[in-house]
Amino acid sequence: MSLLAVDVSQNGSIKNVDSSRSVVEMEEFDFSRLPDRPRTLNMERQRSFDERSLAEIPIGLSPHPPSRADNFNRVLDHLDSIFSPGRRSGFNTPSSNFVYEPHPMTAEAWETLRRSLVYFRGRPVGTIAALDSSEEKLNYDQVFVRDFVPSALAFLMNGEPEIVKNFILKTLRLQSWEKKIDRFQLGEGVMPASFKVLHDPARNTETLIADFGESAIGRVAPVDSGFWWIILLRAYTKSTGDSSLAEMHECQKGMRLILSLCLSEGFDTFPTLLCADGCCMIDRRMGVYGYPIEIQALFFMALRCALVLLKQDTQGKEFIERIIKRLHALSYHMRNYFWLDLKQLNDIYRYKTEEYSHTAVNKFNVMPDSLPEWVFDFMPIHGGYFIGNVGPSKMDFRWFCLGNCIAILSSLATPEQATAIMDLIESRWEELVGDMPLKVCYPAIENHEWRIVTGCDPKNTRWSYHNGGSWPVLLWLLTAACIKTGRPQIARRAIELAEARLSKDGWPEYYDGKLGRYIGKQARRYQTWSISGYLVAKMMLEDPSHLGMVAHEEDKQLKPVLKRSSSWTF
Ligand code: GLC
Repeated sequence: MSLLAVDVSQNGSIKNVDSSRSVVEMEEFDFSRLPDRPRTLNMERQRSFDERSLAEIPIGLSPHPPSRADNFNRVLDHLDSIFSPGRRSGFNTPSSNFVYEPHPMTAEAWETLRRSLVYFRGRPVGTIAALDSSEEKLNYDQVFVRDFVPSALAFLMNGEPEIVKNFILKTLRLQSWEKKIDRFQLGEGVMPASFKVLHDPARNTETLIADFGESAIGRVAPVDSGFWWIILLRAYTKSTGDSSLAEMHECQKGMRLILSLCLSEGFDTFPTLLCADGCCMIDRRMGVYGYPIEIQALFFMALRCALVLLKQDTQGKEFIERIIKRLHALSYHMRNYFWLDLKQLNDIYRYKTEEYSHTAVNKFNVMPDSLPEWVFDFMPIHGGYFIGNVGPSKMDFRWFCLGNCIAILSSLATPEQATAIMDLIESRWEELVGDMPLKVCYPAIENHEWRIVTGCDPKNTRWSYHNGGSWPVLLWLLTAACIKTGRPQIARRAIELAEARLSKDGWPEYYDGKLGRYIGKQARRYQTWSISGYLVAKMMLEDPSHLGMVAHEEDKQLKPVLKRSSSWTF
């Protein structure tokens, strides 16, 4: 990969410079320009951050947009209930002041999390994916953007925002590198999947290498990284009350570059984002190409975050307008076409095919014969979920955990849909939670289908890894979704299950088997996001106000306009 050095000019703007300069010579962001500790809380500023709603810009989508004052008051109401910036909920750590009887596992978890810290020129910039020296390292010795998110949340909740700020700035620098796979240049806004610090003891230097997909198995760029980056920027801002980071010229530009990639015009007929297989947490071929739920939900959430983080300057305004239009179209599409419950399942079962024209009910020409057997038993009377993928003549009925939890947190799911997702989790507890929370997707694909869909991938055999494996990291997402829907007891049950084994088993990356009873075939131990995911889940349950960092209130402007059938009620 050829690297393009980046220079930060006096006024803080980034410009590309001579690519022959090495990364070692690259100037750092001037950290001293930013306050070391989060600023004293500025509630006024914080309020205006959340004030912007979809109705703010008059683009003719809403007949009666609420006034700014309405939005403002609404935000004030819920801010007090869900947001307590700067509060610490960590325990058993030096900076903790929370009086709570901690589970013995939390001390070990904090200690291991701290051991996973990665330093660059003396500053912590992230956490390593796994601390397991017994297995082949591959790229598990790198800082993954998606893996760092639960670590970042744990540090923020514990009142330690510095590392998060460093990470945000460091990855922003990486974004400005020239990215090439063979002779093909990747989009400017692409964020890395992971990065690593290289130490040269002879020269006593440290350099960074990053992977934008050019080293990744399958050579796929991580579509989720940019979304997680924006989501983290908002979490940092909400948690600290410090908006100066997000307001920096470089951060605004980084955000706009990410947004340019996913809001660009093309041949699309849907508002969803078209993706290659393996471009997210499931980073191998698993039949998640097309319009995977994980990316659509993260896309929606990142758009909502960007809406409040973007400055109202000329460039910012233009993006804000595009974001609002896309949010409307995306929520309509997802809530209507990705949603499955008993009624909808029955409708699909009775679909006519080969309908042409605008009056078609079966818009994507889905063949009822393509409905898998398992889905009829799986679907409870009360409950529903966003299915894995929807495209031309294609519906992937698998349940994916991350996408559904993010849909709840971002309010892509209506309150009724969010409740239905939690109902489904409760009624299909054995299938989705089993002995170890939580299935990355359900069910596994096997036999001929596994051969065709995965290309005979031996790592993704049935009920293993991405193919129906159980991932402890998902515990934080479940917990956050439980708190948002007012059902913390579900999270408590899941956490108890994890506590029975996680530490004893050495914090594995994933578990195998229908019930998640076996430590995964090739699972790393001391997988950092299994550790931080647990910590975040615990801290959120103990102090639910932390939810504000990662949750969005429902925006009434996004209510679906049309009803597909008389019983289609949101
Ligand atoms: C695996 C996972 C991916 C994760 C990486 C590092 O490749 O599929 O989601 O980011 O490991 O833990």
